[in-house]
Amino acid sequence: MDTFTATTDRMGRLRSEIAEHPARHRILTGERPTGRLHLGHLFGTILERARLQAAGVETFVVLADYQVITDRESPGAVRENILEAVRDNLAAGLDPERTVFFTHSSIPELNQLMLPFLSLVTDAELRRNPTVKAEAQDSGRALGGLLLTYPVHQAADILFCKGTLVPVGKDNLPHVEMTRTIARRFNERYARIFPVPAGLVTDAPELPGLDGRKMSKSHGNGIALGMSADETATAIRRARTDADRLITYDPVRRPGVSGLLTTAATCLGIGPADVAARVGTGGSAELKRVTIEAVNDFLRGHREGRARITPEDAAAAIRAGNARARGIAAETLDEVRAAMGMAYGF
Ligand code: TRP
Repeated sequence: MDTFTATTDRMGRLRSEIAEHPARHRILTGERPTGRLHLGHLFGTILERARLQAAGVETFVVLADYQVITDRESPGAVRENILEAVRDNLAAGLDPERTVFFTHSSIPELNQLMLPFLSLVTDAELRRNPTVKAEAQDSGRALGGLLLTYPVHQAADILFCKGTLVPVGKDNLPHVEMTRTIARRFNERYARIFPVPAGLVTDAPELPGLDGRKMSKSHGNGIALGMSADETATAIRRARTDADRLITYDPVRRPGVSGLLTTAATCLGIGPADVAARVGTGGSAELKRVTIEAVNDFLRGHREGRARITPEDAAAAIRAGNARARGIAAETLDEVRAAMGMAYGF
């Protein structure tokens, strides 16, 4: 069996296990608040969270604010990015009574777990993480200590609440692997405290950006969830396509056209070739019209939700989430220190 089939197979089994025994699991997932969330996040992660919430699994969402400074000099507009991200999550139907939103910088006990965890990994293990290597390259800067060790910090994000399932994109699987290693080594060396969590890779297709490259906050090629219908139309009209009137799905030779087809198709719940057939020989103008309509129809409900949820509502959700996360982190840290013979009683 090839790796892809094996992964898909395992994900299928995990999903049925979750549906049958939601109470056995705790989900921990999250994101770096480096910018505004876009349509790719909605399809790739947020809607998946809403489905897991509906299945009855307790979910924690970390706004990984310390992770912002792994590859840049300053956190930027991090407060606003956090509030807007939580607003988008709430607008998509996540319920702060059932999903715990928290900022990891607000949880000292979580951060303290990083110290014993660092003792469980080697320099060579840290250096061979392919995602860290790629991020170090992309940053164009010298490899910082936090960039090198953030997968260990991410292990603390996951293990502080004894998460069992970690929904992530493929690029985060090496970090889940590192978390599994840390959990196993801690359990073997000290005491069986931690479950060994599983990564849950979303089966939503990755949405290309308006230029055909990966939709990304840093490429500025995304449809941000906070955009109005008019702003969305303007962004889509600006997308680079080509002059061929016959619209076809060909991601290699026609990345711009194919990016729009995939975007429209995902919003419509059909295949990109079907959208191409619909547009036919209408050319780029018709393709853009169809895409604008599909995206704006799809986002209508989300935008209405966003308009009802204020930044203060988001702040209240995080305040409550931080308090809950902090209580759990303090308990876990106590257990960890006791297992290590460091619960001194003085
Ligand atoms: N590294 C994740 C990202 O790139 C964000 C993240 C931080 C995360 N801590 C986490 C994801 C814990 C899952 C679990 O978006």
